[in-house]
Amino acid sequence: MDALGRNHSLETALADLVDNSIDAGATKVLVRFVQRGTRLVGLYVVDNGRGIEPDRIDAAMTIGGQRTYTGEDLGHFGVGLKAASFSQAASLTVLSRAAGHPAVGRRWQLTSGRRDFTCEIVPGTFAAAELDRNWMLSTSASGTVIRWDQVNGLPSSNDPEQVDEFLSRTISHLQGHLGLTFHRILAHRNIQIVIDVEEVASGVGVRHPVAPLDPFAYPDTLLGWPKDLKVQTGETGLLLRCHIWPRRSNSPEYRLPGGAEARQGLYFYRRGRLLHAGGWEGIHAPDPRLQLARVCIDIDGDTAGLFAMNPEKSRVSAGPRFAQAVAKARAEDGTTITDYLQAAETAWVIANRRTTARRKAVLPPGKGFHPKVSREIRDELPLLPEEPLNIQWKRFTTDAFLEFDRGTRTLWLNRAYRQALLGGRRGGGNDVPVLKALLFLLAENVFEGAHFGARDKDNMDLWQEVLTTAAKAERSTFEARS
Ligand SMILES: Nc1ncnc2c1ncn2[C@@H]1O[C@H](COP(=O)(O)OP(=O)(O)OP(=O)(O)O)[C@@H](O)[C@H]1O
Ligand SMILES: [Mg+2]
Repeated sequence: MDALGRNHSLETALADLVDNSIDAGATKVLVRFVQRGTRLVGLYVVDNGRGIEPDRIDAAMTIGGQRTYTGEDLGHFGVGLKAASFSQAASLTVLSRAAGHPAVGRRWQLTSGRRDFTCEIVPGTFAAAELDRNWMLSTSASGTVIRWDQVNGLPSSNDPEQVDEFLSRTISHLQGHLGLTFHRILAHRNIQIVIDVEEVASGVGVRHPVAPLDPFAYPDTLLGWPKDLKVQTGETGLLLRCHIWPRRSNSPEYRLPGGAEARQGLYFYRRGRLLHAGGWEGIHAPDPRLQLARVCIDIDGDTAGLFAMNPEKSRVSAGPRFAQAVAKARAEDGTTITDYLQAAETAWVIANRRTTARRKAVLPPGKGFHPKVSREIRDELPLLPEEPLNIQWKRFTTDAFLEFDRGTRTLWLNRAYRQALLGGRRGGGNDVPVLKALLFLLAENVFEGAHFGARDKDNMDLWQEVLTTAAKAERSTFEARS
């Protein structure tokens, strides 16, 4: 039990439960975080699929309890539900209703002290009550509720700010991961995935839909691409559909969770579900200049000797013969994998010549920047190989708004204006991203190099005067209001 699902993260574990909902023919899947006060206490995955019949539920709770799978099914090993759940939570409750059958439930607690595979039978009335809660999707005909308690990755903090931050970060990661993993299924089948948060005292908050995130959805194609390279594998052929994004893009499809650079390489799909997003599996080393290269490969499970999917269905591991087989692959016009990689690199060089190369290099953004702003600056501008520039708050002894500290490469902001600029919201190390981004664009260059001239000095005086007046105005408006 302990060993199961060790490669899971919260996102991949939830994707495994969504697999089951999809296999059950659900048209709606809800992922719900449950919050009591400042604590996150549990997680639900609810679907309106066909449910589990009373005489099937014990098999469903069994490890390796495989059923007969059909050609469309995402299930394969008979471990997903258990491995995913126990990688994240110490308690798993399954409540389900199949059409024409009473609701049934089982609960399995790792902390019960038992070392065997028995689980508790949940009373039918409790199962029915859980199924009939206000899920915003109907499970009255049939459906399944998976409930996790004692979830280990959830923060137990008294600081509501921290919990909110965790939730917004986690929900946005999940939207990205599920959107990417199920992008084909979301786009082509009748199914919706939604994430929300229930606050025990005050009810359910905003619904966050999961939108498909297609890593191959570029706006226009380069002439001649994509190309299909055929790999000879003996009995079944394998196609590598080699795509080249025409240029970098700000679209989430290009950016992808984890960053575009890490997402170059191979994308393995099985039955419409993405198993593995990026990486070259021994074909080539990762290289920033190969960012535009993404290869789509449809597989049906393992291909002996070439690759195998892990039980978490979050990776495909290629064997040593895979790279050799790919090296021999050819497109109809004779294109090889090396030609493809070269074409992708050339596309990158040409696209970059048009933009960033013409821009003046800047200091890397350091402390105080929102990670997304930092990434944006790094993507848009060439960087000087120097210490980064920080923009941070501190207490001043004057009422000036700025302090230019070239020694520590820090642009200090006077904390006396912080509350007003936040408009009453809580701050954090990376707060006021708009203000900091503007200051970076305005003043970054006075921090560069060993010396600065009269012109820089004059600019700094000017910014100081105008911005201090602006900050004071901001503060008096804020104080008048509160
Ligand atoms: N949401 C659900 N709706 C209906 N049946 C479900 C649901 N979740 C699980 N089951 C049943 O429980 C069984 C066990 O699920 P589990 O995820 O452990 O294995 P699997 O999906 O068969 O294979 P894999 O290990 O590849 O995921 C499933 O085969 C299915 O019959
Ligand atoms: Mg499964």
